[in-house]
Amino acid sequence: MKLDLRQKFVVGNWKMHTTAAEARRLAKAVVDGIGIKGVGVRDEARVSVTICPPFPYLALVGKILNGSRVSLGVQNLYPEKEGAFTGEVSPTMLLDLGCKYVILGHSERRHKLGESDAFINHKVRVALAAGLDVILCIGETLEQRKANQTEAMLDRQLTCGLADVPADTLTRLSIAYEPVWAIGNLEHHATPQQAQDAHAVIRRRVAQMFGEKSAQALAIQYGGSVKPENAAALFCRDGVDGALVGGASLIADQFLAIVRAAISASQTQENSTTTAA
Ligand code: PGA
Repeated sequence: MKLDLRQKFVVGNWKMHTTAAEARRLAKAVVDGIGIKGVGVRDEARVSVTICPPFPYLALVGKILNGSRVSLGVQNLYPEKEGAFTGEVSPTMLLDLGCKYVILGHSERRHKLGESDAFINHKVRVALAAGLDVILCIGETLEQRKANQTEAMLDRQLTCGLADVPADTLTRLSIAYEPVWAIGNLEHHATPQQAQDAHAVIRRRVAQMFGEKSAQALAIQYGGSVKPENAAALFCRDGVDGALVGGASLIADQFLAIVRAAISASQTQENSTTTAA
């Protein structure tokens, strides 16, 4: 996704959590915390905020987000327009519900549901063609990191995941670097340096595939146990353009604290750019 200079992108992935009542409460609390459109534009323009509830609550959450500064995203889709695909949901249906973003390639879908790079690539191309913005998740397992295969893994997931993606749609795509070992893990989250290094690898590979200009405009989020306690240290790192937040996005105060950390990091980065100029 193309962001304004230093704008951060914070996305809440609710996964398979919440009841209808909880979804309503949580969405309202996030909207109240972020403010309605046009209010506090100066700070809010520093961060783009999206929440991704489970499928059954998209309509009710969408209603609450309507007219707010928070966008609606979805956690998955099936890459066909329509047809005999029992239980699946098409991009058209999601657009009908007001979804702007879709998370694809999440490690839980890769590892627990067996989604292949080729299938994820198909989804990415179909989603972009349909008009949805894509958050493509990539990341290595602990075994791969220990075996020094992180770079090779990211390279493979990017090469396959972005194969045949038209260059002019790259402005509607962001990458979430989510090391598998850091997701939902209270003991292990990537250090800011590990995140920065991986983001640099990702940006370099995207530059090779799509050119330097596209790579510089690309938002790369970090995901994996992002919390209010570690968000600021991550966001101030070069090339860490936001976060994909799981667990902490289910608690409004925590999610809002992460959004505030993104706003301050953007302010600090802008000030230092201005001072250096
Ligand atoms: P987590 O989840 O923040 O709970 O680690 C992140 C994700 O899976 O997107």
